[in-house]
Amino acid sequence: MNHDTIGALLQKINDSATSEGNPRTIEGSLYVAGAPEAQGHARIDDGTDPGQPLVMRGTVFAEDGAPLSNALVEVWHANHLGSYLHFDKSQPAFNLRGSIRTDAEGRYSFRSVVPVGYSVPPGGMAEKLLDQLGHHGHRPAHIHFFVSAPGHRKLTTQINIDGDPYLWDDFAFATREGLVPELKKAWVRKASPTASRAISR
Ligand SMILES: [Fe+2]
Repeated sequence: MNHDTIGALLQKINDSATSEGNPRTIEGSLYVAGAPEAQGHARIDDGTDPGQPLVMRGTVFAEDGAPLSNALVEVWHANHLGSYLHFDKSQPAFNLRGSIRTDAEGRYSFRSVVPVGYSVPPGGMAEKLLDQLGHHGHRPAHIHFFVSAPGHRKLTTQINIDGDPYLWDDFAFATREGLVPELKKAWVRKASPTASRAISR
């Protein structure tokens, strides 16, 4: 194993079931079902996407506040160009998408790369409509989530990447208080590509 260190962003949120529950926001239109399922942790990039490594750790709690094991956390986001696999066929299957089962303590984690924001396609109907409304077509960088478990209401939400210039100027109005977690710089051990894939898929 290579013990070189690489810069990474380590960030943690708790999907806490307070009296209000975890903030919800839009699904967006680019979810694709069937991403590979992993237990506890997944690496959802294949190592070829440029960008700052991102590690996210969280815990899913039930409404009574107890950690929820075996919940399914589905996550997806755009790449360094703001493109989704859904439209960008140059990306490998299920790139930057994953499904993670929480462990006995309700925990999950995944590794990926920090996404960037994106814009509606230039010249398209969405851009023309937004032009008429006097609004730009940019979205800040974000990561989408579905969290589901039998007997529980499905959570549809996203987090935003703090510091994005459009953080509070999203044309989709999806940014929410409580969904902009703190980003922390961290150092992680760099494993060989083979070892990385072995622990993530
Ligand atoms: Fe999105």
